[in-house]
Amino acid sequence: MKTPKRLLPLVEEGMIDEVLRQLMSGKEATVYVVRCGEEIRCAKVYKEASQRSFKQAAAYQEGRNVKNSRQARAMQKGSKYGRKMQEEVWQNAEVDALYKLAAAGVRVPKPYICFEGVLLMDLIGDGQGDVAPRLNDVALDADTARTYFHQLLHQVVLMLGAGIVHGDLSEFNILLDADGPVIIDLPQAINAAGNMGAESMLIRDVDNLTQYFSQFAPELSGTQYGKEIWQLYAASLLSPETPLTGKVAAPTKMVDLDAVIEEIELVRQEAEDRALYLATRNEK
Ligand SMILES: Nc1ncnc2c1ncn2[C@@H]1O[C@H](COP(=O)(O)OP(=O)(O)OP(=O)(O)O)[C@@H](O)[C@H]1O
Ligand SMILES: [Mg+2]
Repeated sequence: MKTPKRLLPLVEEGMIDEVLRQLMSGKEATVYVVRCGEEIRCAKVYKEASQRSFKQAAAYQEGRNVKNSRQARAMQKGSKYGRKMQEEVWQNAEVDALYKLAAAGVRVPKPYICFEGVLLMDLIGDGQGDVAPRLNDVALDADTARTYFHQLLHQVVLMLGAGIVHGDLSEFNILLDADGPVIIDLPQAINAAGNMGAESMLIRDVDNLTQYFSQFAPELSGTQYGKEIWQLYAASLLSPETPLTGKVAAPTKMVDLDAVIEEIELVRQEAEDRALYLATRNEK
């Protein structure tokens, strides 16, 4: 196909040899299938800031590394420079997360570069020469649903081990290749440690998975893997080998029965004393 304008800089720099076709156009990006030498890859072209929801982007900004304070101030002021900076932070967040996650053994597309607002990464295939389907596009039997669910919990734990919460994990951001689920779409990924919202985002991510897979395996409904994973993580007890149960313990503090009885006795005594006092005062 004719090279789209946004991909020209990468073609000129020799990062892309040929643009084969547009794969799809989503909320935040348009994705193309491209050829780089012998390899078929995927180019994600981010939409301009004005076409995206920036309110949402700002909510994810907390805890994210900004290179210097001038950038931070510019971003806050929303100047043209600030917008550009914010844009780069957003795009870099995805490529940064992909590098970290790939290194941590998480199943994500291998990233190559983010250049001029385009992320170049491996194309995830279905193992039969086609592009991998999204989880949402595939009908599952109960056993496969359970298997994928547990594989994805394992991925979530690995991600947390690398210090990252996806923040938008759902059946639309998971592809299925020949070996199972692959996680994509991470511009909103956040640092688990530096972000006050990390706990609720992790729980929401896992709840999304739970809800989705319980359509096919109803017993998954009501499990609390997200909470459990976060509790273990917060207590520094989480590793990829930690067994998960899907249950979180109810508060375990024992009731101190003796103290309760003592308290009742004190109140009873007080009432008795008061009655006695009132009775003797009336006699006077
Ligand atoms: N590495 C990849 N390999 C194969 N297909 C991909 C890859 N990355 C993205 N896609 C396809 O492009 C679609 C959009 O990608 P992505 O989710 O990253 O962008 P998005 O703009 O956030 O899209 P959406 O708004 O639909 O979530 C994916 O649903 C998937 O079908
Ligand atoms: Mg997406």
